[in-house]
Amino acid sequence: MKSPADLARPEIRSLVAYSSARSVANGTGILLDANENPWPPTGDRGLSLNRYPEPQPARLRRRLSEYLGVPEKCLLITRGSDEGIDLLVRGFCAAGQDRVAVCPPCFGMYTTSASIQGAETVSVPLQEHGEEFGLDEAGLSKVADARLTFLCSPNNPTGTIIDAEALIRLAGERTDRGLVVVDEAYQEFTRQPSAIRLLDRLPNLVVLRTLSKAFALAGCRVGVVAAHPDIINLLARIMPPYPLPTPSIQAALDVLDPENLARMTARVRQLREEREALARILHAHPAVRTVWPGHANFILVRITEGRKLVADAARAGIRLRDQSSQPGLKDCVRITVGTPEENRALARFLETWSFQ
Ligand SMILES: Cc1ncc(COP(=O)(O)O)c(C=O)c1O
Repeated sequence: MKSPADLARPEIRSLVAYSSARSVANGTGILLDANENPWPPTGDRGLSLNRYPEPQPARLRRRLSEYLGVPEKCLLITRGSDEGIDLLVRGFCAAGQDRVAVCPPCFGMYTTSASIQGAETVSVPLQEHGEEFGLDEAGLSKVADARLTFLCSPNNPTGTIIDAEALIRLAGERTDRGLVVVDEAYQEFTRQPSAIRLLDRLPNLVVLRTLSKAFALAGCRVGVVAAHPDIINLLARIMPPYPLPTPSIQAALDVLDPENLARMTARVRQLREEREALARILHAHPAVRTVWPGHANFILVRITEGRKLVADAARAGIRLRDQSSQPGLKDCVRITVGTPEENRALARFLETWSFQ
């Protein structure tokens, strides 16, 4: 196999990356190299917000490398997984030429990023077998030339997980042709091992992780791309010079502290229990036709008058996500698992909801 970075757009492969002050010097000494203000702002709280942040903060890289079990050279810290998706599409898909494969129903940003880039999206919908959704592997084989194939495990909004054997087959048939991107935004909620362990074996595999979900840092925008070092180097070159705000770096270091990791695990366990309890309530509801409890922090339901449920719940101050515009999800609603109190409020609303 050639380097997986050879699949990138030629102009990106030959790009001379912008060299920022903090990428050539590490921010120590008398700093007269970045046109910063020498005084911290009011309310700085010791963060030195007058200074540009480290482009890829060393301590955070070390912590993420330990947490994910991946060498630092295989990691790129991004502004959420949204930025990881965007960098991959921009780096690897030439407008009007390269294609992106997606498996709807799935997270919408794969298609949105592809459209912005002018790359065609080909859809290979998940197949619904009874109470499960599965990959259409034969359909995916027909688009093995797609430059990027986005998979999501656990999938948003179905909660489905992808097994390692399928992933190995899909990456294998795309060797030297395209990258397989596995979005693991909800990985901490599953018991299935992460695809990260396959990175050594599959050079064209990319795994996306985020601190937005289990780590409760959606407001800080911190995600990680884990991939072959050549892919990481390529994406780093097209990233803006100082992507990560200093307060976000600090918050990410805090949640990855060993003591706080245990807290995260306890919260994930609690959310899983709440998910099971909510799934039982939904199963018993006369309007609910199918419940997909899934492997994440949400539940997908097919319900008589799904759109009405979303509208009536909103009037009662409870926001649910209508999924009926996604392929195969007519009358489907995605419900995020909340705190026990929030879930009880939803249960009370459902008891009195008039769906006829
Ligand atoms: C599957 C999936 N990937 C990525 C994201 C975006 O994550 P981030 O907050 O890290 O940008 C989401 C957000 O809901 C998601 O559901």
